[in-house]
Amino acid sequence: MASSKYKPINFIFHVFYLIFIFSAHSSTAELKRLLQPAKPDGTVSFLVIGDWGRGGSYNQSNVALQMGEVGEKLNIDFVISTGDNFYDNGLLGLDDPAFKDSFTNIYNASSLQKPWYTILGNHDYRGDVEAQLSPMLRAMDNRWVCMRSFVVNAEIVEFLFIDTTPFVDKYFVQPNKHVYDWRGVLPRQTYLNNLLEEVDVALKESTAKWKIVVGHHTIKSAGHHRNTIELEKQLLPILHANDVDLYVNGHDHCLEHISSVESKTQFMTSGGGSKAWKGDVNHLDPQELKFYYDGQGFMSVDISEAELRAVFYDVSGNVLHHWKTYKEALYFAS
Ligand SMILES: *[C@@H]1O[C@H](CO)[C@@H](O)[C@H](O)[C@H]1NC(C)=O
Ligand SMILES: *[C@@H]1O[C@H](CO)[C@@H](O)[C@H](O)[C@H]1NC(C)=O
Repeated sequence: MASSKYKPINFIFHVFYLIFIFSAHSSTAELKRLLQPAKPDGTVSFLVIGDWGRGGSYNQSNVALQMGEVGEKLNIDFVISTGDNFYDNGLLGLDDPAFKDSFTNIYNASSLQKPWYTILGNHDYRGDVEAQLSPMLRAMDNRWVCMRSFVVNAEIVEFLFIDTTPFVDKYFVQPNKHVYDWRGVLPRQTYLNNLLEEVDVALKESTAKWKIVVGHHTIKSAGHHRNTIELEKQLLPILHANDVDLYVNGHDHCLEHISSVESKTQFMTSGGGSKAWKGDVNHLDPQELKFYYDGQGFMSVDISEAELRAVFYDVSGNVLHHWKTYKEALYFAS
């Protein structure tokens, strides 16, 4: 266990605890920032998985196995979880066995023993949110980095993780039989206004070559949930204004890639961590809908200063779709 391989993780956790302590004493609502070192050659690679925690069922374990293989091949630096980490109702508390049964024991491959940058989904808000966000979980599994909204600076690429559940009106006005844990979110409008401003400022201040925004809910989707209109109205203009390269989300239990005619921002759903095959696809304009897969799987991304490559895999590790984009090389600018 105590090999040098784990040093970067220790470093990140030290930084994390310092930031955590400082922000607890600060009255400004600035987003927490974490440093994620790039590889020695400057590149960064990671996997994205969403909508997963079901004790291994609905192909969760098979997807985990393939993530381990692809993670090994790409020598990934970390994993991103787009939320809905524990079904059906988040974690019940710090001692909920689901943390081990749906996370630690499932994603057990050695290549996945890296930081897991994780946000909450709407199902997580139905449980004990404070437990899921608690640093105590890191004592049980030190990969777990779960916060509401935060920034990860990985040198050539900056990530903005956004807590999207509080944007969605229906959870407040029509919760049906569900009970949401809104501690820390109310008053709602203040929470959302602060968050949108922080996201805008963080994107404007970013000097990273690439900018990726991660949320649980869709902005554009051909899947069951379709577009999230609250995010289209409130978040999308900020992404456009700041030249965000990718918006990455879960929520729809599928894999999809959508581009748009109005900007270069690409919309990628990786929500195939367990239960899928919903079977209701909305046929979008093929100019926008580059790829849709209704079943389980995950996504990998690898980034250099000049190139970003995203790949989608199914439950057996087969490549279903890939996409590449380029930035102008630095020497054009000088
Ligand atoms: C597991 O994956 C296989 C291959 O895609 C699929 O045929 C099967 O229906 C999946 N099982 C479940 C429960 O989704
Ligand atoms: C991960 O867990 C599964 C199921 O318990 C087991 O079959 C597999 O050998 C484990 N893999 C590793 C790398 O420990």
